[in-house]
Amino acid sequence: MSDINDEVNLVDNAKQVLQDNRHGKHTIPAEGIYPHQWFWDSCFIAIGLANYDIDRAQAELLSLIKGQWHNGMIPHMVFDPGAFYRQDRELWRSKISPFSSDDRATSGITQPPILAEAVIRIGKKLPKHERLIWYKKMYKPLVRHHSWLYRDRDPKKTGLVFNVHPWETGMDDTPPWMFAINKIQLPIWIKLIEILKLDKLIEKLRRDTKTVPTTQRESTIDGLALLSVMQRIRRREYSSRKILKSKLLAIEDVGFNSILIRNNHHLEHIAKIIDEKLPEHLQESFNKANHALSHLWHDKGQSYFSRNFYNQENIELESIASLLPLYSGAISQQQADILVKKIQNDIKFGAKYPVPSMSKDSGHFNPNRFWQGPSWVNTNWFLIDGLDRYGHKKQAEDLRNSTIAMVKNKGFYEYFSPDTGKGEGAKNFSWTAALVISLIKN
Ligand code: GLC
Repeated sequence: MSDINDEVNLVDNAKQVLQDNRHGKHTIPAEGIYPHQWFWDSCFIAIGLANYDIDRAQAELLSLIKGQWHNGMIPHMVFDPGAFYRQDRELWRSKISPFSSDDRATSGITQPPILAEAVIRIGKKLPKHERLIWYKKMYKPLVRHHSWLYRDRDPKKTGLVFNVHPWETGMDDTPPWMFAINKIQLPIWIKLIEILKLDKLIEKLRRDTKTVPTTQRESTIDGLALLSVMQRIRRREYSSRKILKSKLLAIEDVGFNSILIRNNHHLEHIAKIIDEKLPEHLQESFNKANHALSHLWHDKGQSYFSRNFYNQENIELESIASLLPLYSGAISQQQADILVKKIQNDIKFGAKYPVPSMSKDSGHFNPNRFWQGPSWVNTNWFLIDGLDRYGHKKQAEDLRNSTIAMVKNKGFYEYFSPDTGKGEGAKNFSWTAALVISLIKN
């Protein structure tokens, strides 16, 4: 992007998207398809807002933590009182957990913990005195959330947390998780629907495919499988202990853990600035986490893979999550360089419109379908940040420019075809708008 006017226009249009998606104190991801407040979406949105409306950026995060549970978990969805409130509240029934929020109806699982990153990005734009007040306000909710993660989701104290649903990773139908889900015994009714080919009929009941072509979303069978995993978790009242006792799905996701580790560092920084000492148990977990990604490194495959919590087997499929250790900051320079080569390798993640969400040689790559191939602005944003910190300045700059150009040419889509650059998924998607502002302004 050379033309400064282009950038000014793009930022103005991005601000308009965030304005249109504003619902009181929070911002929805996109009209119609995503009617609530989502955890990591709100953090990305706040990162964008911090560049021009600091009050609204703070309000976004304060609204998010209104949904925080008594055990510290920040849920992945906080329900908006508007359309779909009743329907989704009834689906999730967060009240069945003794720990759920008193203030808000929410989902019962979490999402990638990038809250500390968002808090710091806002803090950097504030004068020193206000920054301290802001950090002090957000410190406790952050400590409670990270403590919940290591207490509930790392029972063996390995420094790696597990997730119980792919929705927790933010990458709903990502092939490594779908592979794991298909290995567990799914309810017979899903099999029947598949055999009798009733999925076309059920498709008509889907909310998401009213606005986005079915070929760009998860398949109906995958969608039903995701729903059934969620129902099993709900039956255990969203309790990590009960989930493990019933041997439900539990995966140490490489993307989630990479994001968590980076955000542990951010939280340590916040504590230092406001002169607080992190609880000892948490500091111990942070120290372990710094080395924990090495457990997910697969020598033979020369890659990071997610791992089954129970039998410690890697799921040997390379998705975009396999590259996110770059963002963690907790891998060696040598390993970072290996990941950079994968981004450039045309057989793997190299693409005309990078970076695809699935490696092209994985046997599961589909350039149009949700998390099975399309390029996403948020994962690019993580990679740009990581590339920069590992000294790959040129690659970071190239990816920054190609990401901005992709959005400028096609609009604020949810994701883009890595082959053609075509915009896919939801239109006027908030985090695409917010992160483009962040990429241009920083
Ligand atoms: C989809 C995405 C998830 C996102 C949500 C709201 O479910 O996979 O990452 O948070 O939409 O935008």
